[in-house]
Amino acid sequence: MSRVRVAVNGYGVIGKRVADAVRKQGDMELVGVADIVTDYRIKTATILGIPVFAAAPEKGAQMRSSGIPVTGTVDELLSRIDVVVDCTPKKIAAGNKARYEKAGIKAIFQGGEAHSLTGHSFVAQANYETALGRPLTRVVSCNTTSIVRTLTALKKAGLLKRGRGTLIRRASDPWESHLDGILNTVVPEKAIPSHQGPDAKTVDPDLDVVTIAVKAPETISHLHAWWVELTRPSTKEEVLSAFRAAPRIAFVRMGEGVAAINSTKELMSDLGRSRADLYEVGLWEDVLTVEGNEAYYTYQVDNQAIVIPETIDAIRALTGAEKEGMKSIEKTDRALGIMKDFLQIEEKKAEAA
Ligand SMILES: NC(=O)c1ccc[n+]([C@@H]2O[C@H](COP(=O)([O-])OP(=O)(O)OC[C@H]3O[C@@H](n4cnc5c(N)ncnc54)[C@H](O)[C@@H]3O)[C@@H](O)[C@H]2O)c1
Repeated sequence: MSRVRVAVNGYGVIGKRVADAVRKQGDMELVGVADIVTDYRIKTATILGIPVFAAAPEKGAQMRSSGIPVTGTVDELLSRIDVVVDCTPKKIAAGNKARYEKAGIKAIFQGGEAHSLTGHSFVAQANYETALGRPLTRVVSCNTTSIVRTLTALKKAGLLKRGRGTLIRRASDPWESHLDGILNTVVPEKAIPSHQGPDAKTVDPDLDVVTIAVKAPETISHLHAWWVELTRPSTKEEVLSAFRAAPRIAFVRMGEGVAAINSTKELMSDLGRSRADLYEVGLWEDVLTVEGNEAYYTYQVDNQAIVIPETIDAIRALTGAEKEGMKSIEKTDRALGIMKDFLQIEEKKAEAA
């Protein structure tokens, strides 16, 4: 089968990572990226050998005069592809939907858009098959992705009754932290539940989940603290096994010095991950506690990275390039080096042999 031809519209925090990830898949081809900026952010794409297209007619000339070899307009890009991943900012993406429909291509939106835009919200391990052949889907936000991954793991093990989580959110993304953010304060969200709990139900309406969120003065990632009522009395080992059996949840341990969200990012950097990205839910194995029918745990969500593998799977689902969710997940995870446990020395030795 020929490779799926992909474009990325909006080469920002998410778009540049999606572009990299597409280039790592054997069954996909990145035809180009489109944006409206003229500075270092899009020049990098050219240096990395990615064809750049102008997302607005007036921007093409500005890009060229900034030294960027512009390949064409966004409509020319759309005429050469099977599927577009829209990674433009919240609300702008919705305005692009008609353009994609006119071009007769499939489109994937990101979590800043409303569920109603696409009528389908995506987390690979929960509902891959329901996206097969659809024209549109929305990869849910970083926090929502983590909630669906973890609660689905417990649900599939027959353990989930209801989950209640507190989310400590990063204030801003690193690249724009000179422009935006908070300092020396913590800001509670205006309403309870915060939007992530209801958003998880756009993927799985049966989830009984409530979230409370606060914003903290850091740019590294989000941290979640969860209380889950189980369907029956259980054990720590049984709950850990449920998480171990699910894709894209990987354990970290306080006992190995992974003591905070900065430690995990340092670990990703030391392991040679592109951009120090943590694609997995980074769950503290030695913090997780089970008492009777209640489980308590904390995990890390790398907001810039966690939705990247889901986006790759969404490309295969919409185009039908892979019919089985688990097979797509395996392909994506192999290409991105996604792991179950970051510090299993024996596993690493075996891989190297
Ligand atoms: N940043 C995160 O942590 C994160 C995590 C998960 C999901 N998301 C979602 O991903 C989407 C993109 O967010 P982001 O953080 O990557 O944004 P971003 O601001 O980092 O990047 C957006 C890019 O789109 C470009 N752009 C703006 N207008 C455009 C237009 N009309 N046409 C083409 N390009 C245009 C910008 O120049 C920029 O390069 C949003 O829906 C967001 O909610 C973001």
